[in-house]
Amino acid sequence: MILSIESSCDDSSIAITRIKDKKLIFHKKISQEEEHSVYGGVVPELAARLHTLALPKILEETKEFFSELKAIAVTNEPGLSVSLIEGVMMAKALCVSLSLPLLPINHLRGHIYSLFIDNVEVFPMDVLLVSGGHTQILHVENFDKIQILATTLDDSFGESFDKVAKMLGLGYPGGPKIEQYAKKGDISKFNFTIPLRNSPKIAFSYSGLKNQVRLEIEKQEPLSEQIKADICASFQKTAVEHLLQKLKKAYQNRGVKNFGVVGGASANLYLREELEKFCVKKNASLYMSSLEYCSDNAAMIGRCAVDAYLLKKFKDINDIEVSPRSKEF
Ligand code: KG4
Ligand code: ZN
Repeated sequence: MILSIESSCDDSSIAITRIKDKKLIFHKKISQEEEHSVYGGVVPELAARLHTLALPKILEETKEFFSELKAIAVTNEPGLSVSLIEGVMMAKALCVSLSLPLLPINHLRGHIYSLFIDNVEVFPMDVLLVSGGHTQILHVENFDKIQILATTLDDSFGESFDKVAKMLGLGYPGGPKIEQYAKKGDISKFNFTIPLRNSPKIAFSYSGLKNQVRLEIEKQEPLSEQIKADICASFQKTAVEHLLQKLKKAYQNRGVKNFGVVGGASANLYLREELEKFCVKKNASLYMSSLEYCSDNAAMIGRCAVDAYLLKKFKDINDIEVSPRSKEF
């Protein structure tokens, strides 16, 4: 079995995955959403301190598996350095005390493998990654060969939800809050401009949309609950339409057989529905992970680690580095 640790942002999580059948045996996550909510976003030092409390607590519950472990896996990039370090330090300590090899795991690759926690892996696959830090279309040939087809020029999809929610005083994380409010709102009440709609570029941009929403909020203040819902519905529609417009452009002259969507924001039901329509039109199979594995978790890191183990991607504990950016792709 492999013990995997995820602490790249504000979720402390540990999983145990069996190598033989790639099955998830144990998984627990302690989120810090409540603690960060009052600040409207993640406070790195607070996140690191909370990891030091939560990770040992979860580890305590995994002791019964220690004798069966073959490796320790840990997210080492990308993410908040101070948060990543907490998981990496625990992983190193476990490797030394249990005499086990270390598997560093790229968090973005982990998100891709969230699709295979309950299903066998399917390659090649094109994947839309929508999280708090990333908005990318990836062509995944296999574990090693991952190519970025499109990325964001500024803010990410999830980040724009967080920022709009903060402006509306809805708390953190913004994605689920906006999605809830949007259900009661009128999607055509506000006519926000779709970013880069006339640009031939296959890229994303969310900072301009965020500013449009900020100006509208200033115009509408004081905000009634209905106006907040209308802003959320109109913003969500525009944010998703931008994704779909660029997806259609990206695949205008390119076929796609397997298409996946991953990352915290892939839990958005409105986005899921629009992607379903897109895949039907493209004659592609759509892969989505169950809602509990969309946001950060160690189960996806563990599933990715099984393939890393089989490919012998071990690293000396003195050579492992944490990085805020993805160095691999
Ligand atoms: O993957 P994730 O847990 O962390 C990163 O790797 O960044 O993604 C978190 C992001 C946050 O920005 C959050 O607001 C967004 O995912 N998110 C959503 C939804 N649920 C989470 N965005 C839109 N709609 C949602 N339902
Ligand atoms: Zn993530």
